[in-house]
Amino acid sequence: MRTFLTKSVVVGAATLLALTACGSERDASSDDPAEPEAGFAQDSLIGVALPAKTSENWVLAGDLFTNGLKEAGFQADVQYAGASTTVADQQSQINAMVTKGAKVIVIGATDAAQLATQVSQAKQSGATVIAYDRLITNTGDLDYYVAFDNFKVGELQGQALLDGMKEKKPNGPYTIELFSGSPDDNNSKVFFDGAMSILQPAIDSGDVVVGSKQTSIKQTATQGWEAENAQSRMDTLLNSAYTGSKAPDGVLSPNDNLARAIITSVEGAGKPVPVVTGQDSEVESVKSIMAGQQYSTINKDTRKLVAQTITMVKALQAGDEPEINDTDSYDNGEKVIPSYLLDPVIVTKENAAEAYADDPKLGPLTK
Ligand code: GAL
Repeated sequence: MRTFLTKSVVVGAATLLALTACGSERDASSDDPAEPEAGFAQDSLIGVALPAKTSENWVLAGDLFTNGLKEAGFQADVQYAGASTTVADQQSQINAMVTKGAKVIVIGATDAAQLATQVSQAKQSGATVIAYDRLITNTGDLDYYVAFDNFKVGELQGQALLDGMKEKKPNGPYTIELFSGSPDDNNSKVFFDGAMSILQPAIDSGDVVVGSKQTSIKQTATQGWEAENAQSRMDTLLNSAYTGSKAPDGVLSPNDNLARAIITSVEGAGKPVPVVTGQDSEVESVKSIMAGQQYSTINKDTRKLVAQTITMVKALQAGDEPEINDTDSYDNGEKVIPSYLLDPVIVTKENAAEAYADDPKLGPLTK
């Protein structure tokens, strides 16, 4: 089992039904457990509370939810947390959705650990709560989780870093630096743990050396997923651990926005661009990959993730249990959350054209 702290079993291909979840809140309102589920009215309000727009996937998700929910006949209330007061913003947005009678509340959490009260209030009002992309921790009232498999994202990043360095320089030892995401985002630790599950054996064997010796998630964190924080940490690392002709061979970056900031820092220091990983398939990073700068990104097609979430909402509306495919991996500290996990795909210059063939935002690409 993967809790939000540990590694998971691999998700099987078989699709499971959330049999145990059948006895949850929606049943609790009914005196007769055998009474069929009624669902809710087709034109009900669905709330979607998203974090600040810290990467392109969040920008895209807002539009896709607004349009997709309306097309399905629902009323949509899609909100973003502001950049500076994210937690308080999101808490009051969710409170307002509960007050307005939302039947489902989809949450991309700004801070995984700060929403238990809101989730509980939503639950008490009869709403179903779905964590979107980021898990919400320490609440037994969360109903479902829908995301790309975040631990696998980390594993793919760790492997890409090793592969990329080997392509450039067949034999080690390799010197690297590690970056992780914002500490309040539950995904940050899952990405980092996934990557370290691949990198740690190479570090232990001496084939990979972390130049700065900064290997803990605390030391490597990037508050708020802000590019400027990653850039200034990289500046500091270069000034301290890479004096003279020393240069890192690779940098583990958890996403594209930070990858570009790290590359900017290295270029500013007049050093060769190392192998840098990423995530999110951002337009500028895909250009950078095609130009031979950033090494890799991850394709987590936001269109698919939003579509899957809306499929879950439709099932709830019809009074059915939403389809899930994982009942093992994501323990939020209170319970294992029934999840639907999608498969992330690693993208380098090699497979970019193929990977983005049907993505109008990025394609067509030529090597
Ligand atoms: C994560 C998300 C990533 C990235 C990051 C920063 O939670 O899974 O894809 O976008 O937030 O916004």
